[in-house]
Amino acid sequence: MVLLQGTIVAQALKNDLKAIVDSILLENKRAPNLAAILVGDNGASKTYVSNKIKACKEVGFQSTIINLDENVDQSILINQIEKLNNNSAIDGILVQLPLPKQINEQDIVKSINPSKDVDGFHPLNTGKLLTGNPDFIPATPFGILLMLSHYNIETSGKKVVVIGRSNIVGRPISILLSQLGQNGNATVTVCHSKTNNIEQLCLEADIVIAAVGIPNFVKGNMIKNGAVVIDVGITRVPDNSKKLGYSIKGDVAFDEVFEKCSYITPVPGGVGLTTIAALLKNTLHAYYMNQGI
Ligand code: GUN
Repeated sequence: MVLLQGTIVAQALKNDLKAIVDSILLENKRAPNLAAILVGDNGASKTYVSNKIKACKEVGFQSTIINLDENVDQSILINQIEKLNNNSAIDGILVQLPLPKQINEQDIVKSINPSKDVDGFHPLNTGKLLTGNPDFIPATPFGILLMLSHYNIETSGKKVVVIGRSNIVGRPISILLSQLGQNGNATVTVCHSKTNNIEQLCLEADIVIAAVGIPNFVKGNMIKNGAVVIDVGITRVPDNSKKLGYSIKGDVAFDEVFEKCSYITPVPGGVGLTTIAALLKNTLHAYYMNQGI
């Protein structure tokens, strides 16, 4: 069994990005610039955004966090996004999800200029991805592809089971893996809460991608010998033995599964880290696009 180490993959990608930023700065041009909007006080969201900003600093990107109150009006949030849309010094805009109840997520996603939509959530970008011509691949599926590529894991002709059909992970990764081309050509089954016989479907899979948000959902008896297991889960569960009072659990019962599979991502230390590197790659792409390069 080989551990798919997000630390190693992300560091390699960040080194490449840092070298590119260094050469941009040598030409006396400004660095790529990411703006992140954080609404409210959700602890997990705060951590994710601060990790994204930290990664920007590591590669030499500029970055800004805009904090808005939990009770903020949707119109104020949209106003803020419009300011960023019109600011030529900002290349990428992300609004951390989930958002509070008074805000309609789709309205927000649609208000971001598609050429600055580094999350790839705008319907225009979703459509481009669906038709095999993406500008921005959403960070988590992109992170999974980068992980598979780094470890030379073949997807062509393989049976893949994706557990979860979210717009952020399950749906886009299922589309990407079934598309023609590199990292694609797989036969993909998407499982969800209404799927019958999920265990049997998983047992037949060469690659299982778990993105369901339920700790230990994927058990040892659901994985065939030699399968590749990608765990996207990052659920916080109370844990008094930890300083923070919680630990992070994946969707896969790692202790049962690791002996059977050929490759597996740990949680933490797996896909989460490549996801952030993917966001940085999207931000650089937005920088080039917006400068007409
Ligand atoms: N919440 C969970 N994942 C994501 C993501 O990839 N982008 C944003 N903006 N919010 C998220």
